[in-house]
Amino acid sequence: MGSRDYLFKVLVIGDREVGKTSLVQRYVNDKFSKHYKSTVGVDFAVKVIQRSDTETVRLQLWDIAGQERFASMTRIYYKEASGCFIVFDVMNPTTLNNSLKWKQDLDSKVIRADGSPVPCMLLANKCDLSPWEVTHESIDQFSIKNGFAGWVETSAKDNKNINEAASALIEKMVMQP
Ligand code: GTP
Ligand code: MG
Repeated sequence: MGSRDYLFKVLVIGDREVGKTSLVQRYVNDKFSKHYKSTVGVDFAVKVIQRSDTETVRLQLWDIAGQERFASMTRIYYKEASGCFIVFDVMNPTTLNNSLKWKQDLDSKVIRADGSPVPCMLLANKCDLSPWEVTHESIDQFSIKNGFAGWVETSAKDNKNINEAASALIEKMVMQP
């Protein structure tokens, strides 16, 4: 059997300060900083995953500034994306509500050949903090109602569930026709 290489463009979107850059930096460089430095435009990172003996997955991560939802550049950034993470902050319910706006922006601009939306995982970030300002049940309902592929609680600070979230998204992207 021959080897197989996948290349996926993955968007990381969501409101300002929810931890998108922190998640990407933890995932790619295993680093975390508690100091906030807002992203300007978009940052890029690449993660290579050996999925099996014969399969390599290359994720091209597009870490997009939260403020870009108001800047109308997203259509350009989203072009030919294979998958998406929408991130919110469990300490800030507004960022969960705004995840719907991000999802609608995504689904209006990225449509696959068969007309279906790209797989999108919802990340409940900063799960190391407590008590959360949102309930598991409300996230469950939000995720199902709005067509997410699923949701995962993550912490860039404690390196929790980032690999798991990526694996789940990769499974969805690999299954795409
Ligand atoms: P923009 O680039 O402005 O859109 O923000 P962003 O979503 O990229 O947020 P960023 O990763 O810069 O993080 C914002 C702040 O949240 C920083 O002070 C981080 O240290 C903090 N932060 C990020 N992830 C976590 C986390 O998992 N736990 C905790 N406690 N803090 C976090
Ligand atoms: Mg950022």
